[in-house]
Amino acid sequence: MIKIAIVYHSETGNTKRMAELIEEGCRKVSDVEAKMMSIEELDEAYIAEAKAVLFGGPTYEGTISWQMKRVLDEIRVKLDGKLGGVFASQNWPGGGGADFAELTLIAAMLVRGMLIYSGGITKGAPFLHFGAVSARRPEGLYAERCVKLGENIAEKTVELFA
Ligand SMILES: Cc1cc2nc3c(=O)[nH]c(=O)nc-3n(C[C@H](O)[C@H](O)[C@H](O)COP(=O)(O)O)c2cc1C
Repeated sequence: MIKIAIVYHSETGNTKRMAELIEEGCRKVSDVEAKMMSIEELDEAYIAEAKAVLFGGPTYEGTISWQMKRVLDEIRVKLDGKLGGVFASQNWPGGGGADFAELTLIAAMLVRGMLIYSGGITKGAPFLHFGAVSARRPEGLYAERCVKLGENIAEKTVELFA
């Protein structure tokens, strides 16, 4: 089984729900094992074995939360060569900064040598951009995009690493 880690920061449960939906999407693909973990319970041994790692958190002051950023600053696991994906939660549907939060995560992941992927608009509807975003609790299209991100990342992980 190919391992995928879904690492999230969540204070009020919105990003955690996104992680659950992403995990559900990963499970649609055979030969893949996905495990979600909060930043308080990082399973570094699992992340080290994972071929893909997704990072997600809430948007704070228009960018990723400092708690999530700190994980990328301090994680001791070698991320070089792993596939990476991102997700972010925000409060304001019209633009609270979740896209920028994702780009901030992506920048850190690139610096750590990760290969970034979402599938974008190439895998059919619902379309993604940098990753999955949600305003508050993910429902409807926001939820569908989380599942899609998980499925896209899992398919690409199998294609690259099986
Ligand atoms: C300190 C702080 C700053 C925030 N800044 C923003 C912001 O700039 N834009 C926004 O849309 N939401 C902002 N929010 C709201 C959270 O991003 C939003 O409630 C998110 O869904 C929380 O995710 P969680 O339930 O996983 O903790 C902020 C919340 C906190 C606590």
